Amino acid sequence: MYHPSDQRYETMSYRRCGRSGLRLSSLSLGLWHNFGGDAPFQTARAMIHTAFDAGITHFDLANNYGPPPGSAESNFGRILQEDLKAYRDELIISSKAGYDMWPGPYGNFGSRKSLIASCEQSLRRMGLDYVDIFYHHRPDPDTPLAETMGALDHLVRSGKALYVGISNYGPAASQEAASILRRLGTPCLIHQPCYHMFRREPEQGLFSALEAEGMGAIAFSPLAQGILTDKYLSRIPEGSRAAKGRLRIDPEQDPRLEKVRQLSAIAEARGMNIAQLALAWVLRHPVMASVIIGASRPEQIRDCLGCLRGEELSSEELAAIDAILASAA
Ligand SMILES: NC(=O)c1ccc[n+]([C@@H]2O[C@H](COP(=O)([O-])OP(=O)(O)OC[C@H]3O[C@@H](n4cnc5c(N)ncnc54)[C@H](OP(=O)(O)O)[C@@H]3O)[C@@H](O)[C@H]2O)c1
Repeated sequence: MYHPSDQRYETMSYRRCGRSGLRLSSLSLGLWHNFGGDAPFQTARAMIHTAFDAGITHFDLANNYGPPPGSAESNFGRILQEDLKAYRDELIISSKAGYDMWPGPYGNFGSRKSLIASCEQSLRRMGLDYVDIFYHHRPDPDTPLAETMGALDHLVRSGKALYVGISNYGPAASQEAASILRRLGTPCLIHQPCYHMFRREPEQGLFSALEAEGMGAIAFSPLAQGILTDKYLSRIPEGSRAAKGRLRIDPEQDPRLEKVRQLSAIAEARGMNIAQLALAWVLRHPVMASVIIGASRPEQIRDCLGCLRGEELSSEELAAIDAILASAA
């Protein structure tokens, strides 16, 4: 039987999400890869235990995570029931709807029909009465934003979600979504963008929009799916996301890898590895409530926790990182 560590709240830091009352663990664990029906269940379970033992309270899911779609939620639901039932109030569990989930016109995007049905399905798969955060996963060019936000508001009012958020929305749509939700009386808590050293677009307007709206940000794929680690510097290792055909990278050609080598020198000078530096760099931004890592093994989670050690990045280090990232490789 699993007993979480008694020290689980001793080293993790917790950050306020925008202007809300909710604080998230600086690191969150995402279940996009390595938690589905194709992954070893005992490894998935060990990763959840490792995360919770270290004070990671936030677990990020979506209807379509697997493969097959839905299986990450089913597996997480089983781990919750068997190991974490007594700790439900210590957990922030999120799910999302918007990408392809079931056949026909209601299984994706952002209609009221799709979002409410999908949230019900997610709750059933996870064996939950409510999720802590429910997201619209991607913008829908065809559904009025008022309908999508109205569905999120309904989920909160009906007790199916405590908070709501959006993901992959641009700055203007985010502000519009936040203002519709504010009028409905349900604040938009959080935005989940892709943000890492090689993908800095959110700095061009999105982060300032979120700050203006009092929303928090939670970055996904902060390690560029593993590229911001040392794993691809010489070859594609067995068992990696690239080896499984889920990430395209050519270790001999990819210009980002020369930058990773140069960034590693900055990391080493502060006693970190490149993955830890990449996470500390994302967390430097004041709008960042948390960063969602993925992992294929418990040791990777333990390794990532090292990003919380030590001093904040200095202005000299940040300038050196900017210079590497801006250079032509
Ligand atoms: N909202 C959205 O549209 C959206 C989209 C994508 C992701 N997300 C969320 O963000 C989460 C994280 O995404 P991600 O998995 O792409 O994140 P990531 O942290 O950028 O990449 C995770 C991968 O990096 C490798 N890794 C992690 N820690 C490592 C370490 N310490 N040393 C060496 N390698 C390490 C592992 O690769 P190997 O598997 O190769 O070992 C792991 O699977 C997802 O689970 C999901 O919750 C959301």
